[in-house]
Amino acid sequence: MKEPLEKRAEELRKQLEHHEYLYYVLDQPEISDAEFDGLMRELRGIEEAHPELRTPDSPTQRVGGAPREGFVKVAHSSPMLSLDNALNEQELRDFDARVSGLLKSKDYEYVAELKLDGLSMAAHYSAGRLEQALTRGDGRVGEDVTENARTIRSLPLRTRKGALEQGGFEVRGEVVMPRKSFERLNEERDAGGLARFANPRNAAAGALRALDPGVTAARQLDYFSYFLLRDGRPAMESHWASLETLTAAGFKVNPHRKKCEGIEELLEFIREWENKRDGLPYETDGVVAKIDSIAQQESLGWTAKAPRWAVAFKYPARQSQTVLESIEVQVGRTGTLTPVAHLKPVTIGGVTVARATLHNEDEIARLGVEIGDTVLVERSGDVIPKIVRVVEHGRKRRSFQMPRSCPVCGGHVAREEGEAASRCVNTNCPARLRESLLHFASRHVMDIDGMGDALVDQLLSRGMVHNIADLYGLTVEQLLELERMGNKSASKVIHNIDQSRSRPLARVLNGLGIPFVGERTAQILASYFGSLDEIAKAPAETLQEVNEVGPKVAESICEFFAEKRNRELVDRLRAAGLTFTGPKEKKKEGPLTGTTFVLTGTLPTLTREEAKLRIEQAGGKVAGSVSSKTSFVVAGEEAGSKLDKAKQLGVPVLDEAGLLAKLG
Ligand code: IVH
Repeated sequence: MKEPLEKRAEELRKQLEHHEYLYYVLDQPEISDAEFDGLMRELRGIEEAHPELRTPDSPTQRVGGAPREGFVKVAHSSPMLSLDNALNEQELRDFDARVSGLLKSKDYEYVAELKLDGLSMAAHYSAGRLEQALTRGDGRVGEDVTENARTIRSLPLRTRKGALEQGGFEVRGEVVMPRKSFERLNEERDAGGLARFANPRNAAAGALRALDPGVTAARQLDYFSYFLLRDGRPAMESHWASLETLTAAGFKVNPHRKKCEGIEELLEFIREWENKRDGLPYETDGVVAKIDSIAQQESLGWTAKAPRWAVAFKYPARQSQTVLESIEVQVGRTGTLTPVAHLKPVTIGGVTVARATLHNEDEIARLGVEIGDTVLVERSGDVIPKIVRVVEHGRKRRSFQMPRSCPVCGGHVAREEGEAASRCVNTNCPARLRESLLHFASRHVMDIDGMGDALVDQLLSRGMVHNIADLYGLTVEQLLELERMGNKSASKVIHNIDQSRSRPLARVLNGLGIPFVGERTAQILASYFGSLDEIAKAPAETLQEVNEVGPKVAESICEFFAEKRNRELVDRLRAAGLTFTGPKEKKKEGPLTGTTFVLTGTLPTLTREEAKLRIEQAGGKVAGSVSSKTSFVVAGEEAGSKLDKAKQLGVPVLDEAGLLAKLG
């Protein structure tokens, strides 16, 4: 008989798998994030106390692997080729004519699928368990990214009961980064002074090939399956049947697909999705049409580069030229001033575009754009339209200057050295308050459903809230005074506020809106310190001991908690019963514990990011500047002033080989 604990662990794993499936594959969650976290915590607890009960495919083991030095190359079971493109209707008709000519018949069907804008990946399963995942690479040989792929929650670690459990099989599909994750990632990069990713595909590619699976996990990738193979060959007799089998086995298969009886039906599908695709949470750039019957696919065969039985129809790029008429400045929750371009309205792919973000002063300088210029604007679904480049200088062009005072409250505007953003320094700025309330209530932070723009604006204009803590004093009666607020919705909002008291520490920390402390940093800090009070009283040096926390972030945290009004706010949140403590992660111990490194110049093989990760993995710390506390400076080619400083202070200097020796 199985021990009760072992049974409970398996039960929890099944429940978690089921809820991951509902959430990540079907997008139809049945329980709240908090309930899900509760189950996960219980399972973690059991597995920590009884490591022998931990299984490799347990939902707790998605992010298990340690950072690596590189990826092992592995040959594909059969080449992962690419597709020929059709750029317009005629090219598609030509393709269809070729197919019917080669098949000597008109008796065939297409399966039309959306072409997802990501990168392809193969996943190998054995006895229903994920064994290995490979990037496409050059099509013949890919890279083993198994540890990273495991962090993709829509990729099952084991298949659903009864399906594909015998023998081995291979799934091929597309890794994508949802627009929301992409936008959040770029916001975090702005805040950290890092360069933005140009598009979700680049960000997804970077994430899938990150050396640290933790990085992949944080980027929240998604995976859509579109091929099912055994021994490198299609596993079923038709493509459609493969998609259905994959769906039944728990894989995420894009639901927007259709069996088409001929070219006209295919064209109809293409037209239908040309604009509808904007409403999808991920980017698509066309439609892939595949001959359904595998026998017919085989008789059509392949060219050296692509199958003759499939084609990718590409939607035209959604770009257009227009005039930049003015630049408005908006104020965000941390007081960041964002320049927004007002454009002469232009229709791009059926949608009128009149605004585009310019992000910050540096971006404006990079584009070299001035008011009055004609610019090329690109729209891709939800992602805010962006200015690609200047096409022509305006005759009466004028340059943009960031205002010196806040356009909302008139407060002083400052731009700190090394930062891209200019900020309004008035902490009472009404624009900041509005945005900080919206941030606090948002889904990924305190998840207070119903607390959107309309409600926040009313609460503010009636003076019912002056900070985030005031939310916890609201009553149903108060909300009933507001417009469009019935008994039912008022009670719901109050209930949701109430529920948010149990959100974990990392979310509370993120919700405070400390500059540079986004979702990921908040998570790292929460698990390092395990308590908000410990974070609040930590000096900058202690904060900097935490991976990924540099001087800028540390200083920002210290400044936040040094302010009396913020400390009072925190006290009120504590009194309101919010979560102030959480599980604390054990500190990494290794050969480099207690040593601090500074990196400078270009190393022969390691990138700076890789070197940093490896030092941190070995228990060491990487600092940004050389001081008497620095243990070693690692210098590569074109090392700058940091090397001089090291010599001045007598800090030992290592080259890459020296570092590798220390890493052991
Ligand atoms: S089928 C023989 N189906 O587009 C290769 N590819 O241009 C057949 N892609 O490398 C690929 N969505 O990365 C297929 N529904 C879909 C797709 C899709 C996106 C990508 C894939 C492929 C590229 C070809």
